[in-house]
Amino acid sequence: MCGIVGYVGTRETIPILLDGLERLEYRGYDSAGIACIDPAEKNIRLFKAKGKIADLKSILNGFKSPARIGIGHTRWATHGVPSTINAHPHLGAKGRIAVVHNGIVENYRELKSELERKGIQFKSETDTEVIAQLIEYYDRGNLSKAVRRAAMRFEGYLAFVALSRDEPNYLVALKRSNPLVIGIGKGEHFVASDVSAILPYTKQVIYLDDEELVEVRAKEIQITNLKSQKKVTKKPCTIKWSIDQAQKGGYPDFMLKEIYEQPHVLQEILRKRISKSHQIEFDTLGQEASRHLKSAKKICFVSCGTAYHAGMVGQYMFEEFAHLSATAIVASEFRYSDPILGKGDLVILITQSGETADTLAALREAKEKGAFTLAVVNVVGSTIAREADAVVYTHAGSEIGVASTKAYTAQLMTLALLAFYTGKLRGKISRADFRRLILEAKEIPNQVKKTLEYAKGVNQVAKLLYQKRNFLYLGRGYNFPSALEGSLKLKEITYAHAHGYAAGEMKHGPIALIDDTQPVICLIPESKTYVKMLSNIEEIRAREGIVIAIATYGDRNIGRLSSHVVHIPSQREVFSPILTAIPLQILAYQIAVLNSRDVDKPRNLAKSVTVE
Ligand code: F6R
Repeated sequence: MCGIVGYVGTRETIPILLDGLERLEYRGYDSAGIACIDPAEKNIRLFKAKGKIADLKSILNGFKSPARIGIGHTRWATHGVPSTINAHPHLGAKGRIAVVHNGIVENYRELKSELERKGIQFKSETDTEVIAQLIEYYDRGNLSKAVRRAAMRFEGYLAFVALSRDEPNYLVALKRSNPLVIGIGKGEHFVASDVSAILPYTKQVIYLDDEELVEVRAKEIQITNLKSQKKVTKKPCTIKWSIDQAQKGGYPDFMLKEIYEQPHVLQEILRKRISKSHQIEFDTLGQEASRHLKSAKKICFVSCGTAYHAGMVGQYMFEEFAHLSATAIVASEFRYSDPILGKGDLVILITQSGETADTLAALREAKEKGAFTLAVVNVVGSTIAREADAVVYTHAGSEIGVASTKAYTAQLMTLALLAFYTGKLRGKISRADFRRLILEAKEIPNQVKKTLEYAKGVNQVAKLLYQKRNFLYLGRGYNFPSALEGSLKLKEITYAHAHGYAAGEMKHGPIALIDDTQPVICLIPESKTYVKMLSNIEEIRAREGIVIAIATYGDRNIGRLSSHVVHIPSQREVFSPILTAIPLQILAYQIAVLNSRDVDKPRNLAKSVTVE
């Protein structure tokens, strides 16, 4: 995540940068900053603030600068807590080079040590500072050359823009996997991570491709291939989106955008967590947490809402792969249940925002009782991330839609990896099985892509059901929590009533609801309980219920029992909740749209629930 904007031209630069950053704020908002060059002073002026763009603005306090070139950034922390020091832009030690960056420099530790050995001192905890320092180290009066040389040494997915005090007439930007776009104006040019930043100024843009380096001057731009240095000629294209659409990447809502971001998010998680030698690595976990994972007698997952459903899946995962007795409980119940916990017990708090009041209170309660607390959190530097004894980040990027989608599947993947890691520590998974699990995990982003394809058929299901006011969701084992999550998604954005149930419990009561008007969403991927689930579906069909099945591609039994089948690819059961989540999200989304609901901001809800 993070947002980048740069400008070179004839206009007052600071307002353009601030305006662009405000429109990029959805990409991250834990700190922000700008750097510009005041022609009279011939120095880089730097303004940074922890918090939102509004905080940066209040530091600037209406400051007027004659600068006509500058770069800006809004941050979503990956390396180092949100703070003024860690906010971008970062400078080289001599203050000659400023850089804003999106992505990760994976080999930043090696590069940092190398530069430190040469006597260069670092100020921040970020990987970005390495970019600025290395460019400054290589710079002998030609920014473009220095950027090219430095960029060859960075590993990882990134995009950045650099500015030099000594050549205050151009910016140099590089794209590698993370997006960058050049905006073309009259006698001015823009650089941004996202067109929404520059749309009020120009609709003519050039999208950079990977390994392209661009020199951006007021009157011209020059794109070259990083390695070959060959010139690249590109035609500008005209953006037809409105600003609002552009922020959503062309999707009508953030929720849909976030649903479609899931393959990328999962890919990123795997890239960060799985080393070249197929080991699982949790950079922020620490030895003490690993010791607790190895020796814990019991483990308790505590969370709320969607994160609670992730905790329930976590329970199955830890029991299967770490042979560890696990329970999942909602934070508001945990807190007042006087839980029996003590030294040696492990409490895993799961939260997207890291600020949920009930989860925070549960964390404090668990600590008070002497348990070791591990937070699985999305928002870096949030209160729960800071207060827990250890933290593992889910790296889903900022989630704007109130209904959690990508944050949920990111939690599931992170928990799966944590369960495999724990199983290995405890000697419960053989080397060969561990390797197989890793290889299968690596297939999941592509399988999610396929699932998104298959989910196109959900459209018809939504049209059939959107006027219904009552839904049942059924699943077993790993997909019992999926049934709860599917019904929660539907409730929160469509306002229809939906109930998730363990399919085996049907006969103990809910079966009384079934008649030919009752839609029942049945999760039946390949699993240990497949045959049992099939019998449950037979029972619903026998009472003429409307069965919508989410089943594995190639399942030959399910067609005759269902009004509609939505497929997911074949996979190991532990990963199935990641795949079944996709059609459930899309079904809720489409029913909401057909009912003209505000999917991103459903009534009565908030993204971060900071009250008990
Ligand atoms: C549902 C949803 C909520 C959150 C819950 C916990 O789509 O988003 O149920 O999952 O409020 O929030 P976090 O994960 O921020 O603790």
